[in-house]
Amino acid sequence: MNSAKVFICGAGPGDPGLISVKGYRLLRKCDVVLYDRLVSKELVAKIPSTIKKIYVGRESGKAASTHQSRTNKLMLTYVLKGKSVLRLKGGDPLIFGRGAEEAEYLRRHNIQFEIIPGISSAIAAPAYAGIPLTHRGYSSSVALITGHEDETKQHFDVNLKAVASAVDTIVVLMGVERIEEIVQNLRAGGLKGTTKVAIVEKGTMKDQRVIVGNLNTILKKVARYKVISPAVIVVGRVVSFSRRLAWLYPNG
Ligand SMILES: C[S@@+](CC[C@H](N)C(=O)[O-])C[C@H]1O[C@@H](n2cnc3c(N)ncnc32)[C@H](O)[C@@H]1O
Repeated sequence: MNSAKVFICGAGPGDPGLISVKGYRLLRKCDVVLYDRLVSKELVAKIPSTIKKIYVGRESGKAASTHQSRTNKLMLTYVLKGKSVLRLKGGDPLIFGRGAEEAEYLRRHNIQFEIIPGISSAIAAPAYAGIPLTHRGYSSSVALITGHEDETKQHFDVNLKAVASAVDTIVVLMGVERIEEIVQNLRAGGLKGTTKVAIVEKGTMKDQRVIVGNLNTILKKVARYKVISPAVIVVGRVVSFSRRLAWLYPNG
């Protein structure tokens, strides 16, 4: 491919079939792919061997800023050599994905880019667990929240107490490690202990797990089932659909 440009593209949440047609075509014909930790292995395996692929997932122990500046430099290096670069990110690049920061960096360096949306885990993981984020009569508003705003902060600044009373469905990404604080804040915001909660671990992947409880029980369940990241937390009445609409593993 001979057009020097960076394509900031969502890979989808895990199931390799959930990348867009546009993203998939680029995956097969760009010059270089820079991909993140949450991009599925099956998708990476579909990159032809003639295309240079570089893992830019965060290395443990390195600060997010170090990792980001390496990624930025790689994008710049290849595009200045006249290459087309696919910057492949998990889910959607603009939902808690630093895609905008990368686009700003490219703009500052006068590099052409396109943004190709992806299916975010925020909507896909619930969908694969049979949970509609909105439903007539159950939920007409949704908030997407990060549970891990900035690793340098001890507490997150999102006003969960206010969110608790403002919307019907709350979806928290990167929240498993801070679930205790999240539950406390939602209770403090007025949600009852019986408010339903689902955690969708490894959503859309072959080993997806769905843990359902309520604000009273979910902490115990997280410990009992040893829930790990990546996982999406869904809070609200729509969680009651998870049993009725389960389709991936309808029997359990
Ligand atoms: C840095 S954020 C990136 C989100 C991504 N841009 C998106 O739109 O899905 C990473 C968080 O996304 C969520 N996540 C990503 N993939 C997931 C999956 N397959 N199942 C459940 N949660 C997932 C988790 O909350 C994880 O901690």
